[in-house]
Amino acid sequence: MGAALRYLGTVGSTQDEVRAWADDPHAPAPHGAAVVAERQTQGRGRRGRAWATMHGTLAFSVLLRQGPGGAPLTLPELGLLPLAAGVAVQRAAGVGGLKWPNDLLTGDGRKLAGILLEADLRGEEARRAVLGIGLNVSAAPDGAAHLREFAPDLTRAGVLGAVLRELHTWLSAPPDEVLRAWRAANLTLGRPVRVQTPAGPLEGVATDLDARGSLLVQTPGGLHTVSAGDVQLIGQ
Ligand code: BTN
Repeated sequence: MGAALRYLGTVGSTQDEVRAWADDPHAPAPHGAAVVAERQTQGRGRRGRAWATMHGTLAFSVLLRQGPGGAPLTLPELGLLPLAAGVAVQRAAGVGGLKWPNDLLTGDGRKLAGILLEADLRGEEARRAVLGIGLNVSAAPDGAAHLREFAPDLTRAGVLGAVLRELHTWLSAPPDEVLRAWRAANLTLGRPVRVQTPAGPLEGVATDLDARGSLLVQTPGGLHTVSAGDVQLIGQ
């Protein structure tokens, strides 16, 4: 990942910069191309939230034109990609743990990094997907944390290189390995959670992941399978 890399100054969102490069009729961005920006004016997070990009943070997006092993980007695999990306970021950072699906948090629940996967779906298959990663390296918005609190020698360039290398490994890893690595790095399973799902709020205990990477939540009313939603760890 990142064999083709563009380093830009101020942009709206690196997600849109990668798309524009992918659509360039003369030199379209290849699979794995990455755009890094110094500053984003319209950085976006999951569920329509804004994402602040300030001095000391790292913001980049990677173009995915194929799934593991060159396979098409189809729906079951697309469910696991955000988890695989979370594992890659956690391994590269070497600190923190994962809140489902892929927020990197400190043990006391402060956010170190966020991941956004935007797939251009047509039916069960995506023509392409854009994976956006925002990491607080040496600065963080209020209430969040940065990696240098835990690893004072980290640099933005070093973190970027490490994440791109780990993405290369984890985006093509077999599903059972991704699930095993995610479970080993997780801060979610066994915990009481509140989940905002498209079908409404849910409260229970996060028990496990299924083979597609969905979160299983045990509530007094039964076991729920959550494939999309926002998880809050209760008691933090
Ligand atoms: C989240 O936790 O909600 C996901 C945050 C993703 C932020 C990154 S920064 C680089 C890329 N460009 C964006 O506009 N968003 C992602």
